[in-house]
This record gives sequence, C-alpha cells and structure tokens, in this order.
Amino acid sequence: MTAQIIDGKQVAADMRAELKAEVAELKKKEIVPGLAVVLVGEDPASKSYVTAKERACEELGIYSDDNRLAADTSQKDLMALIKKLNKDPKINGILVQLPLPDGLNEAEVLLAIDPAKDVDGFHPVNVGKMVVGEKAFLPCTPHGVIQLLIRNGVKLEGAEVVIVGRSNIVGKPLANMLIQKNATGNATVTVCHTRTRNLAGHTRRADIVIAAAGRPDTVTADMVKDGVVVIDVGVNRVGEKPSKKDPNRMVAILKGDVDFEAVKEKASLITPVPGGVGPMTITMLLYNTVESAKRAAGIDEN
Ligand code: GUN
Repeated sequence: MTAQIIDGKQVAADMRAELKAEVAELKKKEIVPGLAVVLVGEDPASKSYVTAKERACEELGIYSDDNRLAADTSQKDLMALIKKLNKDPKINGILVQLPLPDGLNEAEVLLAIDPAKDVDGFHPVNVGKMVVGEKAFLPCTPHGVIQLLIRNGVKLEGAEVVIVGRSNIVGKPLANMLIQKNATGNATVTVCHTRTRNLAGHTRRADIVIAAAGRPDTVTADMVKDGVVVIDVGVNRVGEKPSKKDPNRMVAILKGDVDFEAVKEKASLITPVPGGVGPMTITMLLYNTVESAKRAAGIDEN
C-alpha cells in the first residue's frame, strides 16, 4: 500500500478561509481580534515561527502586537509586559514564544498570563479544564493534529492510538484530548517515551501512530502495521540548503520523526514534514484568538 499524503497546507488554508470570513463578520460589529506575540532573544527558529504567526494574523485581518525583547530582558520587565497586555482591551490573545532564554522563569511567566487570553492553552487553569473536559483553549499543535485526522476522515472512536513523546506541549495534552468522551475523542491511547520498553511492540498494534519525540527516524517501517495512519509532529533541523527563492540565503533542511519514504509504503495516510502538522499549529492559534475575541464580546455560540 502507498499512503495518501495528508496535505496540512490545504487543511490549514481551508480553516484560514473559514476564519477570515468570521473575522470579516466580527469587523461589521466593530470587533477586531488582537494577538500579542512576545519573543525574547534571538533564537533563529523562534524568530521564524513568530514572523509566520504575525504574517498569518495580517492575512486574516487579526490585529497583531509585536513585542521583541532582548535576550537579557529581566524577569521583572517581562512580567510587567504580561501584566500590561492582560489589561489591554485590544488584546484577546497573548503568546510568549517558548523556550525562553536561560535565566527566565517560564512557569512564572505562563502563570501570569490571564487564562482568558491564554491562546496557547499552556496556563495550568486551561490545562486543568481540558483534562476534566470543560471548555478551554486547546493547545495549538495537538488540536491541529486532531483537526487533520478528522478532516481527512479518520475515525477516532475506538481507534488504537500510540503517541511517541510525552511533552507538555504535544504528547500529554494530545493523549488527554483523544480520551475525552466526545466527538474528537473516544480513542484508546498509549503514550510511549524514552523509558518505554519495546517501543515497536506498541507502535505495531496501532491504528494511528503520532510521533512527537523530537528525534529523526524514531518511527521506521518495521515498527508499523499495514494501513496505519501516521502523523509526524517532529521538526528536526538536520542541515542547511540554499533557499529556492534566493539561492544566496541558507534555509534549514527539516526532517520529521518518521522515516517518511519507507513508512509511506505501508501506511494508508501520512503527514509530510514540512507541510503536514506545521501549518496547522498557527491556524489553531488564530482559531483560539478569534474564539477569545468572541468570548470577550459575549458572543459564544458553542
Ligand atoms: N514553541 C514551540 N511551540 C510553541 C507553541 O506552540 N507555542 C509557544 N508559545 N511556543 C512554542
């Protein structure tokens, strides 16, 4: 079997078109969703993610407030900025790009964000609400993974899902979302990690394998069954190459956690890297920002 490739760019484009129409409707009511992006330091990957987030806001008509701070910014100054953004009525979402430079206390910063503006879904209040099945901002990458599965017709109810990776950003929230008693859950979930014995024994049973380990070739063809659905959340920078648009500029060579070429010969559906999960993460951030603006304005249809 050769897999059908899940086109994350297309699913993201469809969702962004839906959101753009929604933003236009909100504008008629003089509601403009606003996202504040906070980037501390010069990490090249973080800078490119933040630029992409700001561009996406512009494309949809979402107001974006750019806050780029020096790597030696103090905890006190960063906390003061968060407090200012919490109070700003133009801002519906606050995103602090992680990881923060060494010396800054990430947990304290995340805790300071107003949970009603926590469009990343990282605040413990939102994490707790998600776990008990209450309405909450869902973290963007796991929510994007679930949208990719649903919008490609993958049945989650009763499916055996094996997640490889237990991060706070992907593995843990994804496992929680997939076991919820609702239309985007009802799966049977196993979470594997670096201390798992016989990883292949788990992945071979799975109807759906989700790789989020942060290491190339974590999932190889001998580790999956025929017809499996594979979602690759990994983004590993394995080298550099000249840009297609401007050969004088170098761009990163990206590789996922899955041996794509070999696994696609056994799978029924698979995401590529890039062009799979990546475009969905930003889309779900925009989705949460629009949701937050609607809640702030007292419009809450779901
Ligand atoms: N760093 C890597 N992924 C993310 C994300 O989804 N949100 C934030 N804030 N930082 C990240």
